Amino acid sequence: MLIKKNKPWLIPEREATPEAVYMDRRRFLRFSGALGLSAGFLLTGGASVSGFFDLFSGGGSGGGRPRPPRTTPSSHLYPARRNPAYTLDRPLTDEKTASVYNNFYEFSSRKNDVWSLSSGLITRPWTVEITGLVEKPRIYDIDELTRLVKLEERFYRFRCVEAWAMAVPWTGFPMTELLRIARPLSSAGYVRMRTFMNKDWAPQQRLQVWLPWPYEEGLTMEEASNELAFLATGIYGHELPNQHGAPMRLVVPWKYGFKSIKSIVRIEFTDARPKTFWNTLAPDEYDFTANVDPSVPHPRWSQAKERMVDTGETRPTIKYNGYAEYVAGLYGKR
Ligand code: MTE
Repeated sequence: MLIKKNKPWLIPEREATPEAVYMDRRRFLRFSGALGLSAGFLLTGGASVSGFFDLFSGGGSGGGRPRPPRTTPSSHLYPARRNPAYTLDRPLTDEKTASVYNNFYEFSSRKNDVWSLSSGLITRPWTVEITGLVEKPRIYDIDELTRLVKLEERFYRFRCVEAWAMAVPWTGFPMTELLRIARPLSSAGYVRMRTFMNKDWAPQQRLQVWLPWPYEEGLTMEEASNELAFLATGIYGHELPNQHGAPMRLVVPWKYGFKSIKSIVRIEFTDARPKTFWNTLAPDEYDFTANVDPSVPHPRWSQAKERMVDTGETRPTIKYNGYAEYVAGLYGKR
């Protein structure tokens, strides 16, 4: 007898229809690419992503006027080929909702203000320093770095410790590619990542002086070497807009969202466990490891369920956010 065993993150097919809408958007982006236009070009002059997509998908819900990404030397790399290994078969979160519901404390602690307040973030030129215990320390221009790798698209679940969740089409490259380029020494036990520090761009770095800026996050080398660890430079088939962490951010989908550090400027390989932003502020609430786990209570948010940000639907939280098959081996007992 053939028994079809669904992966824990699979949801019934009837719920997967929004992908069709998404594919229409992709087709449009390809089409505009063929005409020599970019989404950034089409959207300049005050048009919103919302209005832009309404034109081609027959409208939809959601508010706000999220700022489109500007055209950059890497814009032609989008949309990238989708890696079918990471198809989740669940509804993708509506882009209009995802782009106006952000955590980026450098700009605001109010989720729906981030997209507008982050418009002052200047992402070109942008450099990323690779340093520490590596054979090849170097400062890369972001467009040079993306030329050294092959961008791909992956559909990942995304789960915040505040119990909201999304399903996101990221574009980027696996962290293992960065390891291939940097060649960490065997003495490196951790990767420490840092966000920019610029009080002119980011008002909260100026105002909230008691916070341990710049935002930093870290992974063990085993976690960074896992095939799921991803450096995203794009989302929804185009470059990352500022509110999602342009021009490059981490995505580690089996961990709570605060690990997925945005707008990275420095990646250091080290033998000491890095001090991280939230863990420094409240170690009881924000563990260094921070794997999604419904059995580990949080003092402020029940982790039993998660709420999809666009539909409001709630679902039981799944250990490792449904990625046990990839990562449970990293943590001893399953
Ligand atoms: N990175 C930086 N630099 N600053 C932040 O405030 N917030 C984190 C993470 N990365 C944050 C950050 C948190 S708490 C979450 S849930 C995710 O970004 C949110 O990512 P999104 O806004 O793209 O959904």
